[in-house]
Amino acid sequence: MLRSKIAGIGSYVPEKVVTNDDLSKVMDTNDEWIQERTGIKERRYGKKHEETTTTIGARAAEIAIERAGIQKEDVDFIIFATLSPDYYFPGCGVLLQRELGITKTEIGALDIRNQCSGFVYGLSVADQFVRSGMYKNVLLVGSEMHSMGLDFTTRGRNVTVIFGDGAGAVVVQPTEEENEGVLTTCLHSDGTYAEKLAFLNPGSHGGYHEKYTGEETDYGYSDAEYGEIFLNKHMVENAQIYPHMEGQFVFKLAVQKFPEVIKEALDKTGLGAEDIDMFIPHQANLRISQFVQKRLGLSDDQVWNNIQKYGNTTAASIPVALCEAVENGAVKKGDLVCLAAFGSGFTWGSALLRW
Ligand code: ACO
Repeated sequence: MLRSKIAGIGSYVPEKVVTNDDLSKVMDTNDEWIQERTGIKERRYGKKHEETTTTIGARAAEIAIERAGIQKEDVDFIIFATLSPDYYFPGCGVLLQRELGITKTEIGALDIRNQCSGFVYGLSVADQFVRSGMYKNVLLVGSEMHSMGLDFTTRGRNVTVIFGDGAGAVVVQPTEEENEGVLTTCLHSDGTYAEKLAFLNPGSHGGYHEKYTGEETDYGYSDAEYGEIFLNKHMVENAQIYPHMEGQFVFKLAVQKFPEVIKEALDKTGLGAEDIDMFIPHQANLRISQFVQKRLGLSDDQVWNNIQKYGNTTAASIPVALCEAVENGAVKKGDLVCLAAFGSGFTWGSALLRW
């Protein structure tokens, strides 16, 4: 039976390290609060005017391509997951193709907008394309440049301290080996609480969210003309152009959905939590990962956490963590690897792979 496997993996994080103490110099926060609530000690920020979501994604992609033993020109499809794209449109998929210098191949490029679960969704899409025989070298990238769009005042501290920049990439290829590759993927969503973790502006909603949230925030629409609904001066002046998160609400749902979707994948494949060799959770918050670890009955060496060093890198967090685990020999050939994510949407998902 034709399956897909990760044939090469790479990651890249910018050089600039920003500690909790660094953040406490620009906003009212402190190392103790951040570490206690999230586990984060530091994160990386890209170089201003030089590094972008696409360019750091390309660095990770080059490593993944080399490790897969192929040439850039052999890539036959691109999938790019991010919530912090270089441009509102076009998406980063085509920009990555250009950055890699492979526009002549005219391959398809797909952009995924599933935030924290973007990589798991992307892997599932890549898996379907490879299994169907349509593509043989799918390049999947998860990349984020959060630092360029956060509120660095005390007003934004609950969100800003959590996020960091980074990129991870994999090349997904077909395999006919019995004991190798993607065993299953499970994907879910529930839009009921879309605005609980959201970036509303710029956008065309024009107050539409009020219908679902009962919110009465003034976004400056009353004075806005056509052409100003999407983005207007009022939004900029009132700092309404930053991500919004109801942290405790997200936390409660995350600790419920992570175990659910992992169990679903295990049930589908006839495996149990005791079969998992390495669990790579989306690095949302160390407390969420620890809660899920306990529910699964896994020991510390069966879970890879690196949120302490990089913060939450959203679509990049799973490939960055998986790459690090592989490079450190913590994931070996034949290991059962479990990936799981939950995030804005809400969307969530899991994947089981035999490495
Ligand atoms: N530094 C200091 N104090 C802060 C900070 C900060 N960075 N941020 C918020 N506070 C204050 C608040 O103002 C509040 O003060 P008050 O009691 O005087 O009003 C107090 O700390 C508690 O605020 P809460 O938001 O209730 O803090 P909570 O304990 O819920 O922790 C956190 C916040 C860390 C965001 C937590 O809710 C959480 O981890 N939620 C899960 C969401 C998550 O992981 N999101 C990641 C991105 S989404 C994803 O990837 C799934």
